[in-house]
Amino acid sequence: MSGSSFRIRTSRGATDVAVERGALDTLGSALRARVAGFSSAPVVVHDASVPKAIVARALRAFEREGLTPSAVALDLHAGKTLAGAESLCHELLARACDRTAVLVAVGGGAVSDLTGFVAAIYLRGIRYVNVPTTLLAQIDASIGGKTGVDLPEGKNLVGAFWPPSAVVIDPDVLAGLPEGEWTSGCGEVAKYAVLAEDLLTLLESTSSALASDGALLDRVLSLCVRTKVRYVEADEFDRGVRRALNLGHTIGHALEAATGFHVLRHGEAVALGLRAEVSLSRALKMASAEFEQRVVRLLGRLGLRSTLPSIDVDRVLACARHDKKREGGAIRFALPVAPGEIRMVDVADDGRIADAVRSLIDGTPRPS
Ligand code: GLY
Repeated sequence: MSGSSFRIRTSRGATDVAVERGALDTLGSALRARVAGFSSAPVVVHDASVPKAIVARALRAFEREGLTPSAVALDLHAGKTLAGAESLCHELLARACDRTAVLVAVGGGAVSDLTGFVAAIYLRGIRYVNVPTTLLAQIDASIGGKTGVDLPEGKNLVGAFWPPSAVVIDPDVLAGLPEGEWTSGCGEVAKYAVLAEDLLTLLESTSSALASDGALLDRVLSLCVRTKVRYVEADEFDRGVRRALNLGHTIGHALEAATGFHVLRHGEAVALGLRAEVSLSRALKMASAEFEQRVVRLLGRLGLRSTLPSIDVDRVLACARHDKKREGGAIRFALPVAPGEIRMVDVADDGRIADAVRSLIDGTPRPS
């Protein structure tokens, strides 16, 4: 097996991140190597969206190492909630889990967010490992220690920075990922391509589709993970440079909120946000027309929409104003200026933001 590996030094020790085909089947030895003094009964936490075969392989990988794993299925139909976190705590108590317990989150971002949050609070903190099974979770949500649950008032309003001991990324588990999940993950791939020019160039130079070219997928995963690792290590608690990872998310989140979180997948909203934010960056005379076009072409190459048939621009603006990135009267953006160059900018001029959102509507004339 060949792959890539990274180490993030955090305030709570190191997180080892491995990208490797077949890694799912070596989870037991990975746990032994990376989590010192853990109980012999790892708890695999997953949800209904994870194929049963993946959960079974994870359990077998532990059994082969002489461990006695058990599995807990989360019910995430209502999303990741405090009630879901409480229910997982009860499950752990029922299994007599003590502070040597280790949780293994197998699934998408909602599974790792909730599992990581329970790991942060159960008995004042236990260890966990992420085994992401969606593209989006493999390149973003599983890395960096942001854990939490949603409240009726908004997403991720309760949580903790609690880094996993390890992140085990097996590209093989993406075979069979539903098309919508690919598209959603590609929105985050686009974000990383704007943050890392070598990834942008790679995607520009290939005619292959990510879903059907294994070698390309491995390279893209590795470059995305490398980029995320760099930002997390530089700013574990998201107080400075890590905010560049919000690229595309200020308008993206507002679009998701304005459409009730059911119309657009997260990555699709990020792609649209990226398109609007590069347009805003150009209007503010930061991004060039050429760079703006590179971003639009990138979205197309990744099969992502960069327009919508209609948008309630006022509603999107209202949602952006309520977003947690607001500072003072202005809305704070991570704006793309050039490949790998992101600038944090407070934009107080609602008219400019509205124009950028309007640029997403099919057929809206664009400035030349
Ligand atoms: N998903 C953005 C971050 O981890 O900071």
